[in-house]
Amino acid sequence: MTEPLDPIAAVTHPDPYAYYERLARTQPLAWNAGMRCWVAASAEAVQAVLDSPLCRVRPPGEPVPPALAGTSAGEVFRRLARMTDGATHATLKAGVLTATAAMDSTAVDRKARRRTRALWREGGWWGAEGIPLGFRLPVHVVAGLLGVPDACLPHVARRTGELVRGMAPGAAADLVAVGSDAATHLTALFSRGGVRRSAPIGALDRSLRAAGCLEPETAAANAVGLLIQTHDATAGLLGNAIVALAENPPMRGEVERDPGLLGDFVDEVLRHDPPVQNTRRWVAEDGVVAGQAMRAGEAVLVLLAAANRDPGANADPHVFRLRRPARRTSGFGHGRHACPGTGIARTIVVAAIAEMMAMRVDLGRLAAGRGYQPSGNTRIPRFACAEDGIDRTNREMP
Ligand code: HEM
Repeated sequence: MTEPLDPIAAVTHPDPYAYYERLARTQPLAWNAGMRCWVAASAEAVQAVLDSPLCRVRPPGEPVPPALAGTSAGEVFRRLARMTDGATHATLKAGVLTATAAMDSTAVDRKARRRTRALWREGGWWGAEGIPLGFRLPVHVVAGLLGVPDACLPHVARRTGELVRGMAPGAAADLVAVGSDAATHLTALFSRGGVRRSAPIGALDRSLRAAGCLEPETAAANAVGLLIQTHDATAGLLGNAIVALAENPPMRGEVERDPGLLGDFVDEVLRHDPPVQNTRRWVAEDGVVAGQAMRAGEAVLVLLAAANRDPGANADPHVFRLRRPARRTSGFGHGRHACPGTGIARTIVVAAIAEMMAMRVDLGRLAAGRGYQPSGNTRIPRFACAEDGIDRTNREMP
């Protein structure tokens, strides 16, 4: 198999992992002339970049991508914890952390199990609207815990997908317009009391108000932000977990016999075939980042997936080990911007796999002939052939 052309092509390559490992070993932090950015690949360099006070989540002087400027999606974007730094980020991050902490793991597990069964019975993987369960389920669970009534969950899941696609770098103008309309609807849902008051929303509001952030739009944007962050990443983890089970029948047998192993299994999927393969940072001022002199405005592509295959971080990195001692994974990021939804995502995926196995879903058949959804950073399998045997290879993906 030929190697990926570059780290962006690696995200959707059938097997990019020997390439990633080579980068981690031989080019831990190097300038990529073709992409005109630094590429951090070793576990050490990835952590150092994410820890560096010089590295920011947005380019200097560009808080919102030009394509989103002046749109509702841009208004959500500029208020997100994920897209801010410094004191603003600290306030917003404290808010989203209190919100995610208010989502009790037993409630997440119960909701994820019920929704998996309900969605599967309604229409299998593709559902009535032709949107894969991998995208819908995590949003149903998180939106439900945020107080969205069951009847509105399909609508909220669809609109979250539209917003995610509209915000993606390089999105076409029509997708930006649809995404922006979705942003208007989703923020109205959370700002005008369109949802029942839930514990996580109450915690988010209180935390932001206590820090002096009184704009209701900011609280609403960060509630929507939880759905945005959930959507693709959790779909990728569920999809990659299904692929791992489909490709390894003995391991599937092991976890079927002992579902208590599913937590370890999902943790190893996160290391071995992580959904979020890379993230970006921009250098705010001239200085030294991870031992390397960098200039203000330069970009750093941070290869989380390569760090996981760094032999210095995980011995025998290409071996899938259910019980891997001292597993080191960068799958949920690191440092100030590390993911606050780790426990939620892990619980949703463990519950979904357990329920699908209990319903005797043929995972091998589901994953047969897969490709990957086009993306520059998230690895989400696209199952060509659904469990009903209808070939949807050419169907347009959400
Ligand atoms: C398997 C699923 C998930 C994966 C792999 C994942 C991964 C990540 C990663 C790598 C980051 C850091 C990005 C960066 O530093 O540039 C991040 C940030 C974030 N994630 Fe997750 N995530 C997942 C699910 C979730 C869920 C379920 C939620 C909420 C319910 C969530 C909420 C967030 C938020 C709010 C941030 C921004 C944090 C900040 O910037 O301080 N994520 N996630």
